[in-house]
Amino acid sequence: MAILQEISIFQCLRIAFIDRAIGKIEESSLVVLNFHMQKSVFIYTYGCQMNVHDSERMMALLTDSGYTRAEVPENADLLIFNTCAIREKAEQKFYSQLGRTKLLKKRHKGLKIAVAGCVAQETKEKLLQRAPHVDYLLGPQNIHLISSLLSGDLHSALFDDNHELASRELAASRESRIKAWVSIMYGCNNFCTYCIVPYTRGREVSRPSSSIISEIEDLARKGYREITILGQNVNSYRSDIDFPELLRRINAVNIDRIRFVTSHPRDFSERLIEIMAELPHVCEHVHLPVQSGSDRILNLMNRGYTYSEYRNKIDFLRKKIPEVAITADVIAGFPGETIRDHAATLGAIKEIEFDGLFAFKFSARKGTRACEMDGHLDEDCKAQRLSEILKLQEEITYSRNKALEGTTQEVLLEGASETDAQMLSGRTRTNKIVTIENNGEKAGSYVRVRVEKARQHSLFGINLSRGGVSS
Ligand code: 5AD
Ligand code: SF4
Repeated sequence: MAILQEISIFQCLRIAFIDRAIGKIEESSLVVLNFHMQKSVFIYTYGCQMNVHDSERMMALLTDSGYTRAEVPENADLLIFNTCAIREKAEQKFYSQLGRTKLLKKRHKGLKIAVAGCVAQETKEKLLQRAPHVDYLLGPQNIHLISSLLSGDLHSALFDDNHELASRELAASRESRIKAWVSIMYGCNNFCTYCIVPYTRGREVSRPSSSIISEIEDLARKGYREITILGQNVNSYRSDIDFPELLRRINAVNIDRIRFVTSHPRDFSERLIEIMAELPHVCEHVHLPVQSGSDRILNLMNRGYTYSEYRNKIDFLRKKIPEVAITADVIAGFPGETIRDHAATLGAIKEIEFDGLFAFKFSARKGTRACEMDGHLDEDCKAQRLSEILKLQEEITYSRNKALEGTTQEVLLEGASETDAQMLSGRTRTNKIVTIENNGEKAGSYVRVRVEKARQHSLFGINLSRGGVSS
């Protein structure tokens, strides 16, 4: 619909320009046509899945207000930077991209620039001093205010209240027709000492379960195959029901695959594991950030568990769901981390054998407790430790993938492979990427695949569903 409107307006303008050139139309008619012309928006998104989904929801609100999606920033009338403040690197990337838009604004006088997300909330009005070409600031708890921000005199919507967001039914303009994100809660109460999120996204608030279920029912009606439930700490979801019960109700909706991120090890209970094992639609993948293998560092991080408690949960999980894939986050070089602490992290990675690991150098974030701690390590030391972690994990990831050679997997096809457009790519229930030859199978369909070859970050397989090849 939006595309049709855009085409017809574009054609109208072309006709108007031609008519004007041959003297058949007056200036005022052009003004009327321009007045009706839709504005377009381009959104830059940085950081986590939560931000990706927030951008989808801002896009839906803007579409309702008459905006269309611009394919490139140069064509947009509105640029939104949906920012991430979790590490300095993400912030720097945003600032350098923002700097480049100064020139765009000079060329296109009507261009408006909005900074949304965690950097807006963290930096507040100081951001306008640093980048005076920014028009609007919007905190992550206020994405529902985007349209009123643009239409009113407000410059910013930064207050701390995510209660209103949780009670809103917000549509999302999703790019995928196969997989969808669904937020179940906002904010975080954990205050891990390194983390800026509780300061930018505020206190935990859960969405009512009825509203979550009706959103998922709607996605099922639209033919979505997979949903990923989102929250900073989904295990502390609380409304009329708790998280395990919510999972049970979601499982009763007709959606094939259910995933969730992120879980906090402290709240990841045996009851939840048992319920996961029972529910057929809940996929066999758990992302459970360990952060460190040293109890001393876990304590300094305020994580609320010891390594052996974490380890016990992994053992129980593997006992109940033997095929489960486990991924985690790790921070290298937390303040005061000794060689022994670092060795404990390497030991934990070796012992657990994660299927995949997201490892980061500690990044000091102003306002967090870790930023004020003694014993900050220099960048070279953090980089060295990070590379040791990554190298070790690479071997483990490869050997975990290798162990799948010869097995048969159910793969949900997502489309052309990112690395080779001649191939199709999809995911197993354990979230491993699988590529197969492109024989015209449709994205969104399921195929049974025999894994032929493990690669570092994916599996290559043969489609058994086409017939001709026996398993
Ligand atoms: N420095 C480095 N990594 C961080 N994370 C969160 N805050 C920081 C920080 N200040 C990592 C954690 C978290 C993931 C989303 O980002 O590992 O689980
Ligand atoms: Fe940050 Fe910890 Fe909350 Fe995750 S649980 S968002 S790491 S404070």
